[in-house]
Order: sequence, then C-alpha cells, then structure tokens
Amino acid sequence: MADGGHGRRHKEAEEEEEAAGAGCAPGGSARYFCTAGRGMEVFLLREVRARLDATEVDCASGKVFFTTSAELTRLKKLKSAERLFLLLNRSPPLSISRNKGKVINDINRLVSEDPSCWLDTVAVWQRLHGQEMKPDDMCQKSPASRKRKMEDEGDIKPKNQKGEPIQSVPAESQIEKTQTYDTSEALKENVLSEDTPFLEKTHELIQENSTEESSCFTFRVSCRSSGALAKIFTAQDLGRIIGIALMKSFGWKADLRNPDIEIFVHLNDLYTVIGIPVFRLPLASRVYIKTAGLRSTVAWAMASLAEIKTGAFVLDPTCGLGTLLLEAATEWPNVHYLGVDISDSQLQGAYSNIKAASLMNKIQLLKASATALPLTSESIDIALADIPFGKKFKITKDTELIPDILQELERVLCAGGTAVLLLSQELYKRLSNNVASNPDSSVRITVEPANDCTKSAIMSVKSNPEEESYSPCTAPSSAQEGEQEQIVRKRTTLGSLMLVESVKVSLGKTDAFICKYKKLTASLTKR
Ligand SMILES: C[S@@+](CC[C@H](N)C(=O)[O-])C[C@H]1O[C@@H](n2cnc3c(N)ncnc32)[C@H](O)[C@@H]1O
Repeated sequence: MADGGHGRRHKEAEEEEEAAGAGCAPGGSARYFCTAGRGMEVFLLREVRARLDATEVDCASGKVFFTTSAELTRLKKLKSAERLFLLLNRSPPLSISRNKGKVINDINRLVSEDPSCWLDTVAVWQRLHGQEMKPDDMCQKSPASRKRKMEDEGDIKPKNQKGEPIQSVPAESQIEKTQTYDTSEALKENVLSEDTPFLEKTHELIQENSTEESSCFTFRVSCRSSGALAKIFTAQDLGRIIGIALMKSFGWKADLRNPDIEIFVHLNDLYTVIGIPVFRLPLASRVYIKTAGLRSTVAWAMASLAEIKTGAFVLDPTCGLGTLLLEAATEWPNVHYLGVDISDSQLQGAYSNIKAASLMNKIQLLKASATALPLTSESIDIALADIPFGKKFKITKDTELIPDILQELERVLCAGGTAVLLLSQELYKRLSNNVASNPDSSVRITVEPANDCTKSAIMSVKSNPEEESYSPCTAPSSAQEGEQEQIVRKRTTLGSLMLVESVKVSLGKTDAFICKYKKLTASLTKR
C-alpha cells in the first residue's frame, strides 16, 4: 500500500484523519520525508525526533520519513537534511514488464489511484506557506504572489572557495540523474506518442487544457530514476508520463520556469517515492555561511555528536574557513569557540565568514599549528576537527602529522572531554590498525532506538575495518522495550582517547568517517 500521508497508520488515526481532512494527520500533522547524504540518515533520524517531535520515523537509503505537526519555521531548522518534501506517495518499486504500455499505466496509477491524497497534500503545502485553498480551487489561476521566489524564502546560496554555488549531495546513488520535465514541451514534440491509447488520450486532453491556459494551477515534475525502469524509460520520459497524468487527473498546467509547485519523483529498484519540496532551496544551503569549506550538514552532524553544553570550551585545531565552528555556534551559542589554523588565507576566510554571520563575539581565531597548540593542558572540553589529509593540504605523509595532532588534542582535552574527528577512509583505516585494542574490555553506550539506519551506522564501528568478524552485540533488555538500545562495543583506544562511535558519511566525491572519541580519566589511561 502506498504511504502517501495515509499508509501505515492505525485505523483509529485514519478515521480521525478523515474527519480532519484526508492527507493531514490528526492535529494538523503531515507526512514528510527528507533526503540525506549517504550515511547521514542516522543523524537525521535523531534530529527529526528531537527537533520536530516527529513520530512514525523510519528510513530507506538516503531518505528519512516522518510525521510532524511542526510549522514552517521549525521545519526550516533541520540541519542534517539535504531537502525536505511533503510525502505524496511511497510504495514498492514498479514491476517492470516487457509491455511498455503496461508500465505507463502503472505509472499513471501513481497519480490516478488516490487523487484525494494529491489534492490534500497540495492543500497542506499551501497551508504551510500561508495559502489556504480548498482542493476544488486548485484549478484556478494562481496569483503571481503565490509563486515561490527564492528571495521569499530569504535564502542565499552559499559558495565554495572558488565562488561557485555549492550543490547538494545527491542523497542516493550518484549515478541517478534528476530530470526536470515540461509537459507542454513534451506534447509539442509528441515525444511519447508511441502507439499507446493512454498517450493518445492524454494528448487530446492536453490540447483541451491548453485552451484554458490562463486558469490553471501550475506544476513541474523532477524525476530521478535508476535500475530496471531506467533501462526502459529515461527520467525525462517518466516525468512526462507523470506530468500528463497530473494534467489528466487535475487539469493542472505544466510550467517549467515558475510553477506553483514542483513534484519530485524517485523511482528505482527499491522504492517509489513522490513528494513536493517544502522549500525551493535545499535545507543544506545555509544563509549564515558565506563561503563553505566542509559540507555544512556533515559539520553540523559532527557538532551534534559532541553534545556541546552551555559554557563549554570548544576547539577546532584545523579550522580552515570555520564551517564546523559556524555550524556549532549557530546551534549552541552560549559556548566559547576557538579556531586554530596554520594558514593565513584560511584564517582570513574564517574571519570574513564569522563576521558575515555576526558571530564575532562567540568565535575567536588563532594562528598556530595543531601540533603545538598554545593552550594549557586539559583546558578544552570539546575538540571538533576535520583532519587535513591528502594532496590538497600537501599532507601525503600522514604518519608525520597525524600522531602529533592527536597527541596535542589528547593533551589539551580535559578528562572526560570529547573529540569528534572527520577522518579520511585512508586515515581511519590506518588509525584503526594502529590502535591499542583490548579485546577483554568493553564499554556500554546508549544510542537511539533500533531501526535499520541506526543499526547500519553502528555496525560500521569496528576496531579494525578489515576485521570482518567483529560486530557489536545488542543487550536484550531496553532494546526490546523499544525505548533505548544498549550496545556493547569493544573498547578501542588511541592513547587515552577511546573511540565510542563512528559513522561513514559521503562528502560527495569521496567518503569519510565521523569518529567520536572520549578522553578517559587518568586512572584508565594507558600509554
Ligand atoms: C579540511 S580543512 C578544515 C576545514 C574546516 N574544518 C571547516 O570547517 O571548513 C583543513 C585545514 O587544516 C589546516 N592545517 C593543515 N595543517 C595544519 C597544522 N599543522 N595546524 C593547523 N592547521 C593546519 C589547513 O590550513 C586547512 O585549513
């Protein structure tokens, strides 16, 4: 059954929902999904629960689904997501047959099977954006003021160091391409005029509609596809089929340039997901970051893992443009932040970023080497670092620099302090191979309630990535009660720094590991 704001709910809830208007959950809540960079789902699961009081939270690769009644300003605060959508349809993958016409009919049914879900979800979108409209009104000309303009959302696109706009990380497979499709163009070209009765009929229908051009609710379809379906249809073809079905079902009009709403369709071998973007710009685009270094979603995830408390002293010993510090200071403001870097130009970039974000009173900068920090021992509560590695930073002999950085971090961190490090895969592997691991000892750590994504992230914690036999075991008690899960893990230490969690995340072209270390108390420290 499709989960389009309706599916997987209890009967009682469905009845309440009907009373309140289908498509919206009781109490004005709605069903959403976010896209997330690979590996980021675990952070997003935690975040939607904590920030939006989300319920019915679950995830599929690169997507997190949830129900919330949070209003637009709260939704916009999500930091670990790429994009946010109102869910229109979530169903199993389309069954692929040799008969193209049959597949087209199946795609068509994604729209025609439950028209009220589509209209109700559009109504929820309009309500969120302060545009109360009844489903029946949706085929009237939408005033220009209803068009969402970039500036209406108050967002500016962050740029990278070369001044190019930062693209959001495709949440799922990198080979999938998103195609935006203009139905009216498709009809002009008659691209899909294969000998299927469905397409002939819809052609006539669109011609009828085109005579009423000035009075229609407008849309565009962005489609991404992969797997078996992508071998038969291009993403553009699929977008056209859905676009035509929307015209047929609702009389909406396609508008590629400035539509009232966008319909996002993702079809692959694992699932069918359709949604309406809540915001035109990705959530991952930060208004407060002028020039981004590290991906902002990953930077926020690292800071969230550190559990920063009010009044804490937080250090980034290789701060670069200061993305980590900006993400942390924006979310946890009553904290002392210090950024250290060896490069004048990076410090200059960090300074202008911090100034643009009006965080000069929160973040201080210092020129020094991370291998010889001008700080007293045990003076820092939390260290956040994107450890430089590779040709970009002229650090090819990591063995020379990394142990010195780690030793310094260990020195300046107070006992019980936390270090969250972003390590390249290469570095992670090397450090894991070098750690002093005590097979007899274990540590008990409390994590989120079990679900597939949380589990897969936790399963990535290994003392040695090549040690395939190692896997954490689950303590039976609280996990069964569905509250919290106790994970027993092997204690993995780097000097006095004990690895407590690691998550593999995508940085776009490459993957990296977010690793959380706790500094052990002096009595436990073995050197
Ligand atoms: C990957 S970038 C950091 C990105 C940054 N964390 C951010 O949030 O945007 C690595 C930084 O390490 C700096 N770096 C390299 N060697 C260093 C050293 N010995 N001490 C301090 N900083 C160093 C580089 O100048 C560069 O700015």
